[in-house]
Amino acid sequence: MNHATLVTGGASGIGFSIAQALLERGDFVIIADVQETNLTEARSNLESHAERVRFERIDVTDEDNVRASFDACESDFATITGLVNSAGIGAEALALETDVKLFRKILEVNLLGSFITAKEAGRRMQAGGRGSIVNIASVSGIRASASRTAYGSSKAGMIMMTQVMALELASHGVRVNAIAPGPIETAMVKEMHSDRTRQQWFSRVPMGRYGLPSEMTGAALFLLDDQSSSYMTGQVLVLDGGFSTTGLLASG
Ligand code: NAI
Repeated sequence: MNHATLVTGGASGIGFSIAQALLERGDFVIIADVQETNLTEARSNLESHAERVRFERIDVTDEDNVRASFDACESDFATITGLVNSAGIGAEALALETDVKLFRKILEVNLLGSFITAKEAGRRMQAGGRGSIVNIASVSGIRASASRTAYGSSKAGMIMMTQVMALELASHGVRVNAIAPGPIETAMVKEMHSDRTRQQWFSRVPMGRYGLPSEMTGAALFLLDDQSSSYMTGQVLVLDGGFSTTGLLASG
């Protein structure tokens, strides 16, 4: 049986770039996403890799749906030894103006959804004695940014989930790490970032620009690779153009 990496949210943005990079180096990949339109577009963009890629419509918040999908993939496609949790949603709203329903929805997709897939993958990886899970968190889970109470909390939660699962699965050959991107030009950001937010990022990121989805792939492939990152678990790689380590921006 072949081995595959399942990428949630893999039909768009960061997840799509990671899936594409894995396919380009010859891996088997499962692109799991809730949006049919994104899945259709991804399928047509990846036609040249058709024999090594499978598309699954998954809602990561639905445990039964996730389990059935993992079962189907493992019975007739490949054993899942890699998981990238990139499915996510965001919204900008000041804390006191954040609707409880919105807060709950963001936690449900970003945090609980990642937990559901990580638990499903982790159980199988533990039984097989190998695996790597990569959670796409955010600098908003490390630094407090205005209007991100729900989003930032979900990403901070993902980071702690990464660390606890890393600890519990370490002796079973399963590694769990996270990537914390800064602002990356994707569909989510186009919807979420106002012009004012964009200007703020331009002035606060030392590199002076948003990152590209393709700039997230090297770190993901490194963390997924059993050889390159064999002694690394429970870590957060921050890819943010220097944002989170910066003090004064101007000198003189
Ligand atoms: P995107 O909107 O381009 O892609 C997200 C994908 O997740 C979409 O295809 C969407 O259909 C899918 N998705 C949403 N809810 C789902 C669900 N319930 N089940 C399955 N799939 C679902 O967004 P982007 O920017 O690529 O984001 C990917 C991840 O990276 C997210 O977790 C996001 O929070 C994180 N991130 C993004 C940053 C950015 O600036 N773009 C910065 C830091 C983190």
